Amino acid sequence: MDSYDIAVIPGDGIGPEVVDAALPLVEDAADETGFAFETTRFDWGTEYYLDNGEMMPEDGLDRLADFDAVFLGAVGHPEVPDHVTLHGLLLPIRKGFDQYVCKRPNVLFEGIESPLRGYESGDIDFVVYRENTEGEYADVGGREHRGFEHETAVQSALFTRQGTERIVRAAFEAATEREGSLTSITKSNAQAHSMVFWDDVVADVSDEFPSVDVERLLVDAGAMDLIRRPDEFDVLVASNLFGDILTDIGAQITGSMGLAPSGNIHPGDEYPSMFEPVHGSAPDIVGDGVANPLATVLSWSMLFEDLGEQQAADALWDGVADQLADESAPRTPDLGGTAGTGDVVADLRSRL
Ligand code: NAI
Ligand code: MG
Repeated sequence: MDSYDIAVIPGDGIGPEVVDAALPLVEDAADETGFAFETTRFDWGTEYYLDNGEMMPEDGLDRLADFDAVFLGAVGHPEVPDHVTLHGLLLPIRKGFDQYVCKRPNVLFEGIESPLRGYESGDIDFVVYRENTEGEYADVGGREHRGFEHETAVQSALFTRQGTERIVRAAFEAATEREGSLTSITKSNAQAHSMVFWDDVVADVSDEFPSVDVERLLVDAGAMDLIRRPDEFDVLVASNLFGDILTDIGAQITGSMGLAPSGNIHPGDEYPSMFEPVHGSAPDIVGDGVANPLATVLSWSMLFEDLGEQQAADALWDGVADQLADESAPRTPDLGGTAGTGDVVADLRSRL
């Protein structure tokens, strides 16, 4: 029997709530489909920061490096600036493990009403491939003349050919396995260096994938079209910042932040990939027991798929779909229900 070692970082806010609630369920799914995994918990995050002055220990990446995968809840705390929490934990893992594909599926499940009128289940079904290691989130810049009137901040974006090519190629490959259409999101009218370069790379890589239809959209038009015609998208590929923004739109138009999963994937064997719900630590509902655990369950499904455990991945994904389609099933308040986190997981366990 295959067995895996998985590092679990519950993090802050509702992170531990959804992670702890989902764990017995995903262990069941593994058990029933014939494999096992062991989890090692790392209590890194803002509490750790308040005690130790850092979000994770200095050798944090070394400690994670030998795991088969990492699962993360969420980070972010009202008392600590968000750039500290993000740059102290999430970004170092994404960059340090070269997790260059941020894959975010957006699916309108049966039983979920989109805030956009007229769409039924399955109408909205696209996946965003977001570049995850450079672009606008590169740590290139600085602040000078602090405190003076001429205080200056410089934040540069970094686009490398290798970095751009590999995310674009991953998106093309995904398109060949889906509906065969790819939308590249840029802002090449205004950002005539980096984004025109991105367009050039898309044109180069597209030669390798003659069967894929390529559409180019400026990010403002893309934001509009995700509202206006979300049913027409299949695979979107975007830089770090644009992908981040567009996937929040994607989460909302498919029902809730509480349903959106994501993977930070290192496609090679050198480092572990990391899976996490798209949502943050939700300080407004922390401790209420009403956080929706489904984004976490779907993220575990993506993790199992990445490990090659397709049966367990399908069991979790289909279980969520089945529950959402059932009008009498418990739902958390973000989906219009009154159930708690634990009720939703208990119901899912009975459906596996
Ligand atoms: P958020 O995703 O935490 O919350 C946005 C809204 O969605 C809130 O009203 C929240 O209650 C709701 N929501 C989120 N997840 C939910 C769930 N599972 N079930 C039910 N409702 C849910 O984003 P926000 O409020 O902008 O950020 C809060 C903190 O989280 C900040 O410190 C931010 O930096 C951090 N953050 C961390 C992320 C991560 O760890 N990957 C991603 C986004 C934000
Ligand atoms: Mg985001």
